[in-house]
Amino acid sequence: MRILIFDDYKKLSHWVAHYVCAKINAQATPQKPFVLGLPTGSSPIGTYQAMVELYKQKKVSFKNVITFNMDEYVGLPENHPQSYHYFMHHHLFDHIDIPRENINILNGNAPDLEAECRSYEERMKQYGGIDLFLGGIGPDGHIAFNEPGSSLTSRTRIKTLTYDTLVANSRFFDNDISKVPRTALTVGVGTVMDAREVLIIISGYSKSRALQHAVEGGVNHMWTVSMLQLHQHGIICCDEESTMELKVGTVRYFKDIENHSLNNLPKL
Ligand code: GLP
Repeated sequence: MRILIFDDYKKLSHWVAHYVCAKINAQATPQKPFVLGLPTGSSPIGTYQAMVELYKQKKVSFKNVITFNMDEYVGLPENHPQSYHYFMHHHLFDHIDIPRENINILNGNAPDLEAECRSYEERMKQYGGIDLFLGGIGPDGHIAFNEPGSSLTSRTRIKTLTYDTLVANSRFFDNDISKVPRTALTVGVGTVMDAREVLIIISGYSKSRALQHAVEGGVNHMWTVSMLQLHQHGIICCDEESTMELKVGTVRYFKDIENHSLNNLPKL
């Protein structure tokens, strides 16, 4: 697993945006579109802003990109400002040239939620699988909505959110836990791990314990992000602040071996 530790969130976001866009430029064609998995949350916002900038500068096009989002709340209308549909259009899709039909987001209002989850997995397969899955984590180390104790081979399904996540996400719902939906549809840990490459963005002090478990702990279902250790092409891009609980030696080690990448943006 690669671990890139950036001085701050801005540098991290810039680098990740360049990394993703470089992959798109190198691989996306009309015959074989690039299949990109995407997260929501505050962690990827800087990356999305930088991707929109690169698009405006004509350094990348999303015409041949297919996207699959990680998760969506159950029962929130799509136009609710806190729905992940709304989030994705607001922060990314409305500002780039991705064809509408290339966008896939779980439907948390589907009449049959289990069928919705099954068909989501089917669609990913039909496109040949995910090339690159971007992700974030919750303070308890969850990826997508794979809360502590989730099967590390889980697939797309309905999940009940933990109290910790309800508290963390209530900041988007007037700080009122009762307004946060209790359930969500989410890709599984196994779904994410099937991607050819997985890049997790980790920023801020509140994620430092999760980062420690992901990097210095063993693979464990209580910290679902730790499964990244078993992926052939796993990358964590984090900022200095989130490394607070890592050993000094761990931080120095990864800064040293990633020195070149940290000081050079991926070429577009
Ligand atoms: C939610 C999402 C996750 C996201 C997490 C962290 O729980 N389901 O995909 O990683 O929030 O969000 P933030 O980046 O805002 O801390």
